[in-house]
Amino acid sequence: MTRRLYIETVGCQMNVLDSEMVVADLRKRGYELAADLAAADVILFNTCSVREQAENKTYSALGRLRSFKQRHPEKIIGVMGCMAQKDQQLVFSRAPYVDLVVGPGQLARIPDLIEAVGHGKGRQMAVSLGRTDGPVAEIRRSHETFDPLRDPTMRPTPFQAYLRIQIGCDKFCTYCIVPMTRGPEQGRPPEQILAEARVLADQGCKEITLIGQTVNSYKHASGGRTTRLSDLLYSLSEIGGVQRLKFVTNYPKDMTDDLLHAVRDLPQCSPYLHVPVQSGSNAVLARMKRGYTVEDYREMLGRIRATIPHAAVTSDFIVGFCGETEADFQQTYELVKESRFKNSFIFKYSERPGTKGAELYADDVPFEVKNRRNNELLELQNRLSEQDNQQFLGRRVEVLVEGASDRAKHRGEDAGESVQLMGRTPDDRIVVFDGQPRLIGQIIPLAIYDVAAHTLFGAVVTEHVGPPLSVLA
Ligand code: 5AD
Ligand code: SF4
Repeated sequence: MTRRLYIETVGCQMNVLDSEMVVADLRKRGYELAADLAAADVILFNTCSVREQAENKTYSALGRLRSFKQRHPEKIIGVMGCMAQKDQQLVFSRAPYVDLVVGPGQLARIPDLIEAVGHGKGRQMAVSLGRTDGPVAEIRRSHETFDPLRDPTMRPTPFQAYLRIQIGCDKFCTYCIVPMTRGPEQGRPPEQILAEARVLADQGCKEITLIGQTVNSYKHASGGRTTRLSDLLYSLSEIGGVQRLKFVTNYPKDMTDDLLHAVRDLPQCSPYLHVPVQSGSNAVLARMKRGYTVEDYREMLGRIRATIPHAAVTSDFIVGFCGETEADFQQTYELVKESRFKNSFIFKYSERPGTKGAELYADDVPFEVKNRRNNELLELQNRLSEQDNQQFLGRRVEVLVEGASDRAKHRGEDAGESVQLMGRTPDDRIVVFDGQPRLIGQIIPLAIYDVAAHTLFGAVVTEHVGPPLSVLA
């Protein structure tokens, strides 16, 4: 009998990929996706712990299932991902009707655990070891990357895919829970990555985004040879059909010249670099234990600009980190002003139990102050993003058409006639334009006639064939 699965995913690209993998794995075992939660036999929440708000939302969603589970005790409810790893038994105490708790390093066990619950064996939990719970090799083994065979129907689009090259993180920024939930940094063997990329290319995938928490720190040593991200990019660019290669997220200190040269020299590499700086104050960066100064970051940004002048650089910022003064914030503001980021993601500091930040420093910036700093920085970045986009006015860009724009989806515009579509430029700018749905999945030229902070507006370029046209003045 077919069983139906419903999965809700929050958080980063890593979570999106984990969900894709879990769904593909369960489909191989006869599951089908249910359109909504009520129609499902198994309900999974793939969770995030980076900020408290994400956790609160998950617990509220679970809370809403309390009476549902009373009415349907046979339905299986599971919590997977970072919050499962971080909270473990606490998930069962806060939501006793949850059947499964599975950390991100144990996803391969989900089918067996579902079966165990189904056979009346009670609640099941599979989590990895903590960072000090034993010998390093054992801790590493307990965090397994889960990359079974890919299923193109499970991706948001069949012509784009994430490809994991690394799991975990060893940077231990003091605010961040990720090194605890996703364990030690481990690079996947290059042979595995290349084999997976070939499968993706055979499936018609045109754009591959390599993902890792600090993707440019990727290293894999075997047979006396160390492979770096730049080496991977050269090998991947030889795979026919893959027209775009991206990678996220970068760690500023590991933005080495070999990598910048690969991005400059390989036509498939998108000139798009997400390199979060987090703060413009050296005092704050030191407390965050980011391992670089503002001067180091500026030097790196200078190298990017000198090597790949047309690259779009984006950043993340945390405002209101412990002890952040108005003067510290002003330095962040100035850094945004001078850096010409295409875009920045701005977050209010959220204290995470289990991190060094929570242990060592008081979360002492009042909420209203965090809010104000967040808004001021966002307002500045939006203004700069719009200015940055203006360079595209009247220009032609190559866009990979991803699908209907949000507006078209909202309106319920349908296939057949011209609808509002959206796509992305190689440097990750969103373009919306009117076009035939058959363009979805193609890379096409568009002429840009208007811009906003986060969107370019384009029109399909139709080449004129036939006798010359008189030019209109
Ligand atoms: N509070 C707020 N933002 C955080 N981030 C990571 N940890 C926290 C936290 N505790 C932000 C960082 C990171 C992005 C993915 O999330 O800016 O780059
Ligand atoms: Fe978290 Fe820092 Fe690792 Fe990024 S580099 S995942 S912010 S610890």
